[in-house]
Order: sequence, then structure tokens, then C-alpha cells
Amino acid sequence: MKTIEDLGDLRGTRVLVRSDFNVPLDGTTITDDGRIRAALPTLTALLEAGARVVVTAHLGRPKGAPEAKYSLAPVAARLGELLGRPVALAQDVVGESARETVAGLADGEIALLENIRFDARETSKVEAERQELAGELAALADAFVSDGFGVVHRKQASVYDVALQLPSAVGSLVLNEVDSLRRATEDPERPYVVVLGGSKVSDKLGVIANLLTKADRLLIGGGMVFTFLAAKGYSVGTSLLEEDQVETVKGYLTTAEERGVEIVLPTDIVVADSFAADAPHDVVAADAMPEGRMGLDIGPESAELFASKIRDARTIVWNGPMGVFEFEAFAAGTRAVAQAMVDAGQDGAFSIVGGGDSAAAVRQLGFDEAGFGHISTGGGASLEFLEGKELPGIAVLEQKTEQ
Ligand code: 3PG
Repeated sequence: MKTIEDLGDLRGTRVLVRSDFNVPLDGTTITDDGRIRAALPTLTALLEAGARVVVTAHLGRPKGAPEAKYSLAPVAARLGELLGRPVALAQDVVGESARETVAGLADGEIALLENIRFDARETSKVEAERQELAGELAALADAFVSDGFGVVHRKQASVYDVALQLPSAVGSLVLNEVDSLRRATEDPERPYVVVLGGSKVSDKLGVIANLLTKADRLLIGGGMVFTFLAAKGYSVGTSLLEEDQVETVKGYLTTAEERGVEIVLPTDIVVADSFAADAPHDVVAADAMPEGRMGLDIGPESAELFASKIRDARTIVWNGPMGVFEFEAFAAGTRAVAQAMVDAGQDGAFSIVGGGDSAAAVRQLGFDEAGFGHISTGGGASLEFLEGKELPGIAVLEQKTEQ
């Protein structure tokens, strides 16, 4: 893939950057600005090179028309604070305001276009519609830099089609993500341990199937573990359960056994009366969960078991929290996994935290990001990478390099 250096002298050049600024918001307050921080190296490099930087990004899933709650205004403000310079926010995506804002940029200045998903053509399945929007984006710039790793699995106008219409390069964030994920997935140093959590098994079916051919050990926690426990014949009270996935999971357990892949499930669970920060809770054996109570974290014995299975690994990939870490009473399992990864890293293992929730957990639980080999900004994108799928936003840049 071409990098920014391959674009030549950028002074005075209008560079369109696709970033992933899909950050969690509480009203208009950004609760985790990790994705904005991660975008800074590329943006700073372009600004220092004298480019006129035009950033396009999405927030949430608006239905193809402007919606105030999905405005990128809070992102523009935060980005401006982090860069230490003003970030002009165009009031539309590719309309008059966008054109005027871009025309008003001097060398080394930056503007953000309003939420790209306010334009229905961005996510259209009709190629011609996407190409039309991509053409309008391309008219605002002389070159394109793809730096939103969280969206490279989307075949969308600002990710895929625009790269076909402008001289294009990969930004350092995407390059670093791809290098790190490749290091962990193509010929990983072994033992290769993958920790999976989060709420749904159904989101991770492809990943599990692929990992059963690659990993040495799979550690399962989070809401998805209850479908595994149900597949083993245990009752799971009122815990999250995807009954329609139980048979599939049984198949995974059999395949794992046949292939010698160790699947590690929790031996104890923290069960609570309700889904609340202050819900009364107890630790019970995983095969003796009471009726009427729900599992909200792996128990202390499991946390220790998981930690021991992580500490002797040489490559660790983690996607999805072990419990409801947002509530302190149910954060211990997630904390134990993160700590074991840091410990393994100190012993020379390479670790990746993938997925928006696990990355947010690491930060919210106060871990130093430097303790991990790589913290991915991609949720679905890192999962699709682990699944071994082709990511359109990467493939398009690779194809262009070959041409
Ligand atoms: C993400 O949050 O994973 C990315 O920004 C992609 O968002 P999407 O799933 O709405 O396409």
C-alpha cells in the first residue's frame, strides 16, 4: 500500500482523510476519546507537511439524513483541543458549506465535514450512488488518505469508492493496525491465546470458526459464555442466552476437541439479582447457577484460571469484556484479563486488545495503554480481520498499488 510519503510534497495540497470518529457519547459529552487520539499522528503529519486537511467521518447510524444528535460538533471541538488548533466544522457533507469551508483553508489548516452518514449515498448498496458521492468528496480534495481502521470493513463511499477516484494512501493508524493484526494472525508466536467476551456469540461465529484452525487456546467470558455453558448442559438462570446458537456452540466444542484446541470456560460466575451497579450478587459454581439470577462477570477462581492461561502465552488477542466492567462490582474478570496481558507483555509476549468495548475497558479501568502490544481502534473491523475476511477499505488500496 502507498503511504503518505508516496504522495509527494503535500504543501498546499488538499488531502481528504477518512477517520473513524465513531466515539461513545453521553448527550454531547464524549465518554472515550481514544479514537480521536489515535487519529492524531496522521493528521499532525499532514498539517506539518503544509497540507490543507479535510476530514470525513461518521458518528452512529443516522438514517441517511441530518439528525442533530449525530452531529460531529463535539468531535470537532475535542479534535481542536487535542491538536491545539481550530477545526472548522462544515455544516453539511459535500454541499455549499463543505465547499466554502475547504476553500477557506490555508496550508496547515484542518476542517471536518459533517457526519458522512447524513448522506444516504454513503452506505448505499447501489454502486453508482456511492460513486456519485465519492465524486463529490473527491472534488473537495487532491489526494485521499485512509486512516479510519474501524470502518475499513465497510464498502462505503468515503472508505472504498473515493479511493478509486483520487491518488490514495494508507495512514499510519491503519498501517499500524494491519501490521499488528497480521503479526498476531499470520504465523503467531505460540502459544497463541485468544480471549473472547462481549455479549453475543452470534457476533463472533466467523471468528470462532476461524480461530479453531489457528489458536492454541480460546478463553471465553462475557455474556456470550452463557451460550457455551448452556451447550455443556448447565442451566444459566436469567443470564443472556442465545438459544438458537446452542447447537452451533456444541459443534465448536467438538471441533476444538478434535483439533486439540483448548477451550477454557469459567468455573465460577458472579450472579446478580438484576442488571444494576448496586445489584446484590454472589459467586456460584458455573454448573450450579441458580434460577432467577443472572451472570454479570466471571468469578474469582475463573479470573485466576484465565490469567494463568494468558501469562504463559506468546501471542494474545483479546476481544470483548469478561463482564459488565462499567459497574465496579462486575469489573474484576475484565481487570484480571487486562492485567495478565500486561504481565505477559513484560515477559515478551505480543498482545492485542481489539474491539471498541475492550479498548474502552482498558482505559476506563486505568491501565496504561503502553502495557499492551497494540490497542485496536476497530470493533467489527478487527473481528472481520480475525475472521480472515477481505476488508474492502484495505483491498482497494492494495489493488491500486498493484496497478
Ligand atoms: C465501529 O464503531 O465499529 C465503526 O465506527 C463502524 O461503525 P458501523 O458498525 O456503524 O459501520
